[in-house]
Amino acid sequence: MTWWREAVFYQIYIRSFSDGNGDGLGDFPGILGKLDYLEWLGIDAIWVTPFYPSPMADHGYDVSDYKAVDPVFGTLGDVDALLEQAHARGIKVIFDIVPNHTSDQHPWFQNAIRARSDPDRDKYIFRAPDADGGPPNNWRSVFGGPAWTFHEPTGEYFLHLFAPEQPDLNWRNPEVHEYFDGIIRFWLDLGADGFRIDVAHALYKDEMLRSQPEIRRVPGTQYQALEGTYAWDQPEVHDVYRRWRKIGDSYPGDRVFVGEVFILDPATVAKYTRPDELHLAFNFFLVAQPWDPSRMKHAISLSMEEMRLVENKPTWVLSNHDVVRHVTRFGGGDLGRRRARAALLMMMALPGAKFIYQGEELGLEQVEIPDALKQDPVFFRTNGKKPGRDGCRVPLPWTESAPTFGFTAGEPWLPIPPEWGPLSVAAQKDDSESMLAFYKEALLASKANSESIRGGFEWLEGPEQCVIFKRSGSHSLVCVCNFGSQAITLPLSGEIMVASEGEGARKVGSAVELDGNCAVWLRA
Ligand code: GLC
Repeated sequence: MTWWREAVFYQIYIRSFSDGNGDGLGDFPGILGKLDYLEWLGIDAIWVTPFYPSPMADHGYDVSDYKAVDPVFGTLGDVDALLEQAHARGIKVIFDIVPNHTSDQHPWFQNAIRARSDPDRDKYIFRAPDADGGPPNNWRSVFGGPAWTFHEPTGEYFLHLFAPEQPDLNWRNPEVHEYFDGIIRFWLDLGADGFRIDVAHALYKDEMLRSQPEIRRVPGTQYQALEGTYAWDQPEVHDVYRRWRKIGDSYPGDRVFVGEVFILDPATVAKYTRPDELHLAFNFFLVAQPWDPSRMKHAISLSMEEMRLVENKPTWVLSNHDVVRHVTRFGGGDLGRRRARAALLMMMALPGAKFIYQGEELGLEQVEIPDALKQDPVFFRTNGKKPGRDGCRVPLPWTESAPTFGFTAGEPWLPIPPEWGPLSVAAQKDDSESMLAFYKEALLASKANSESIRGGFEWLEGPEQCVIFKRSGSHSLVCVCNFGSQAITLPLSGEIMVASEGEGARKVGSAVELDGNCAVWLRA
């Protein structure tokens, strides 16, 4: 049994987790100071978002040096300390790697724009204007606007699927492969347990760069979808991961690659996790589902079916740093939190790895950031038509004291809502009814039932407003999630193990009564 297959990963969006040096941005010393918390919570691994030197046009997803640490986040010594101290607690650590694009300040790009003849030019995708002087094709940036920017001095356009400060690399150039082999080895040598691969499906583009037949929005996100067409998910990309897998496998320990394949089609995502490719890929299907039992059931069932084909397990994600926090998606406030608790219990009973985004264990909601304080390029690239992703990236409240809530001794890079005191770690940690206490309880319960959660899966029939399934190992675990607002009585036997609300599930003779927007695990 490999550690990652059923692991609970906790995503640390480093800028917003905990600030150790008072500059208002989270950093490695901040993470080091919270390892006790993470151990207490009971997660298995952390994923740290990009911390490499970067001009921060996309908050670190624009890397100018892949083998160093940006001074705002700390030093290589801090990374060493994190690996050592996390490992001492039995926590694995994976880092983010950004292979689709570099920063425009990366030395390669700086050379590339010097002259068309520069040898580094071919490491990016430069093309002559079309006959009318416009961009070479109709591709749109995921962040809005065209995916091409004209470089006046050298008279060609360069491709950027994201911001213009993030020029796309040309993976048809062998030097790009060698470069990333070296980067992977560098961090694995240091002791990293693996990588989360940023836009893993995007590395190769159609060789002829043909125009997209259709452009639409990715449901549930602010992104433009270019999927199923020419801008990404090309067959050649799979060889990159076969090569990386061999590198990972040449290291002792169980190193893991997790792909961000932001395509809402589990069958396509599954291809990236064939046995000789990535170990895991995020399955974002739940992120795109509203609070609706038939949609959720369909998403789960399709994900499991497709992932089974590749003998790997699916993965589950409810929130991350790019999407609206799920408490808000599920209705916001106490209702949203109640549903989020139920969703967690349902997710924890599913087979495969789970990804928790920092702050969801506190029940944080999406925050409305005033335009003047916004930082996300999505907001600027769409001329304010889209709100941007800052609202899910607000720093964590650790203590109850406004305005900094123990996140920083300085001024937080985004303001923390003044009413977040009761949501802070300090306010929730010793309150057995709190969201935080429930997350810990659900994580513990999933460990205690790991054998069933690794075992068989079967849908059970029931009323339309419920999703009900059974997991079987040495004992059976039945998970019921009631998506309706009314309590329901179900003819299910078995002892109540855990419910998403303290008194939310009750035994009534040989039946179970389950409150609305509530989930329960029964031991059969
Ligand atoms: C991924 C990241 C996102 C980033 C983008 C470009 O989708 O999760 O935050 O903006 O890639 O690197």
